[in-house]
Amino acid sequence: MLRLGVNIDHVATVRQARGIMIPDPVEAALLAENGGADGITVHLREDRRHIQQRDVERLRKTIKSKLNLEMAATDEMVRLAAQLRPDDACFVPERREELTTEGGLDVASQKHRLRAAVEALQSNGIKVNLFIDPDDEQIAASRDTGAHGVEIHTGRYANSSRTQAREADAVARAAALARSRGLEVHAGHGLNYDNVPAIASIPEIVELNIGHSIVARAIMIGMEQAVREMRAQLDRARAS
Ligand code: PXP
Repeated sequence: MLRLGVNIDHVATVRQARGIMIPDPVEAALLAENGGADGITVHLREDRRHIQQRDVERLRKTIKSKLNLEMAATDEMVRLAAQLRPDDACFVPERREELTTEGGLDVASQKHRLRAAVEALQSNGIKVNLFIDPDDEQIAASRDTGAHGVEIHTGRYANSSRTQAREADAVARAAALARSRGLEVHAGHGLNYDNVPAIASIPEIVELNIGHSIVARAIMIGMEQAVREMRAQLDRARAS
């Protein structure tokens, strides 16, 4: 079965907009599990713009499904991840000024450094996946690092319109190649309710990580009820 990892970063984005305690990403994670999530994914960014270290610590103690930590492969983050002990870690490139992760990791140009980071976490029982573009050279290099698997960046597919079939094909070819090299294959970024079927039907992919579209949908299906509850509070206050 295809696993669904739900990325809850943007629940924390809404919380950080106010600097208070709600909405709580841990509560959102438990609801995601009730809805059928096979795992919870968070990106602990260097600038801590959404998820905080404390969130990851609380998730580790609370959730029943798999915890997947997206992170830059820096010495500081590798040390921290070894303490936080997620089930999986996904190494992603990170630039402070980006809105979201913009491209895959260039594994080929930093194979030795990444091999050491992969080894440091895998020796602590944390499976490491590398977030890469659907590119043959990056797949070969990923295998050389000893990583458990790769997460194929679906952003180019998600952002394309006329060339979408070709981009889906590139993801499918990369998935087959990675699998044939012994890597577990995940995919994610920019997937939504409309564009996910083509990626979900690629047989070598065993896990998808999806965040923004699920959080956006949760707001829309929750809005009516949330307003109804506030309306009821106002009416009760006036009635008493
Ligand atoms: N996978 C990785 C490696 C990511 O960096 C992200 C974004 O944080 C996602 C999946 C989820 O992307 P989206 O929020 O667009 O669904």
